[in-house]
Amino acid sequence: MTRGRFISFEGIDGAGKSTQHAWLVDYLRAQGKTVVASREPGGTPLGEKLRALLLAEPMHLETEALLMFAARREHVAQVIEPALARGDWVVCDRFVDASFAYQAGGRGLAWEKLQALADWTLAGLQPDLTLIFDAPVAVAQERLRAATANPDRFEQEQAAFFERVRNAYLRIADENPARVRLIDARQTPAVINKVLENIVATF
Ligand code: TYD
Repeated sequence: MTRGRFISFEGIDGAGKSTQHAWLVDYLRAQGKTVVASREPGGTPLGEKLRALLLAEPMHLETEALLMFAARREHVAQVIEPALARGDWVVCDRFVDASFAYQAGGRGLAWEKLQALADWTLAGLQPDLTLIFDAPVAVAQERLRAATANPDRFEQEQAAFFERVRNAYLRIADENPARVRLIDARQTPAVINKVLENIVATF
């Protein structure tokens, strides 16, 4: 049995990644692939409970990082590893890069602390392909304002926070050229659909 493929979607809030995530899941299924669509934080019953806490409850930044990784550990064990072992495609709205971008970049937790958590809990698991949706913070914030009636704890952050998150994502893209593709999220959804089609046809 060939191991499945693992794709993650990343980007600052408002970049439009969730729309494209849903589109790619439908596209791959239409191509006859068996796709497990998931998201982080979340993806399991326990992970979704942790998500509800993470998005609503004020907490210390290390608590936030630990809960993100707790939810992820469960997600990997219950969903991602079994799916990849079956040969399915896993298409996940956010994965470990989000912890580096938000908890290290955005909140200022030491990169090395997150690396230690990743080394401990993921045993080297990384997506085969990561799509980072990049847009200027002002563009993403405008989209967020138009689309979100009740912003969560992260969405309520100031522009400077998202600038730091964006810069961390750009650093991740720079340091992982074989895994990461940076997508200009200012393009129209139809143009981005084509970009994704081309990327998944060749990765
Ligand atoms: P998001 O995908 O933006 O959910 P939605 O589109 O439904 O609002 O994810 C929720 C938030 O969680 C997002 O603001 C980023 C944050 N997050 C982290 O801070 N660290 C992480 O490791 C993950 C997975 C998400």
